[in-house]
Amino acid sequence: MQSKLFFKQLFACCVWLILVAVVSPVQAEQFVTVLVAYHSVSGHTEKMAHAVAEGVQSVPGTRVRVERVEKVTAEVLFTADALVVGSPVYWSNMAGEVKTFFDNWQFKFGVWPDFKMRNKVGAAFATGGQVSSGKEVTMLTILAAMLGNQMIVVSGGGAFGASATTEGKSPGIDQDELADARALGKRVAEVAWMVKRGEVKQPSVLQ
Ligand SMILES: Cc1cc2nc3c(=O)[nH]c(=O)nc-3n(C[C@H](O)[C@H](O)[C@H](O)COP(=O)(O)O)c2cc1C
Repeated sequence: MQSKLFFKQLFACCVWLILVAVVSPVQAEQFVTVLVAYHSVSGHTEKMAHAVAEGVQSVPGTRVRVERVEKVTAEVLFTADALVVGSPVYWSNMAGEVKTFFDNWQFKFGVWPDFKMRNKVGAAFATGGQVSSGKEVTMLTILAAMLGNQMIVVSGGGAFGASATTEGKSPGIDQDELADARALGKRVAEVAWMVKRGEVKQPSVLQ
């Protein structure tokens, strides 16, 4: 009688282990996580960040997290499949807070020498007061930091990412600029899916 119970329990245990082994990886494959990290003082870049997130969410099977750069933890950063970073233009370059965020990947999170951001998808967005006063440089320097970390950088919305002019004759963020931000988020999520599927299908190629 006792041995019957033992075998019943053993059988239940085996079934449970098989389910964990088979179902868990399938579940992990069912979504990609995109982190949208930004700095913003007067709210323009923040508005773009939320539009990028909307674009991400338009792709089925994605999860998005929107955070100010100083709030991003090592765990949130390293578990994301893709990262989109946004900055206001300060003197034709990214804001100091955004640069500190990248520097802290090493100082606080120890990203190197393991290249913990390797093969994650990366992209940039920016807002600037004037039409031609540093938005593209800002996005390129963000992308340069990502390239240095062996990330896979993509554009979308515009040639280097999504951007908006916020002062002068073009105050605030208009519908076209929001549409560009959504297009960037959508593209990042799509490429993140391509990378994730490729990893699952061809693990030996990527090692
Ligand atoms: C210190 C400082 C420097 C700035 N430098 C530039 C600049 O070089 N080019 C530009 O187009 N806008 C510049 N701006 C304007 C901001 O980039 C712009 O207002 C931006 O949209 C602010 O973003 P936020 O609302 O997310 O804080 C500067 C603003 C500040 C405060």
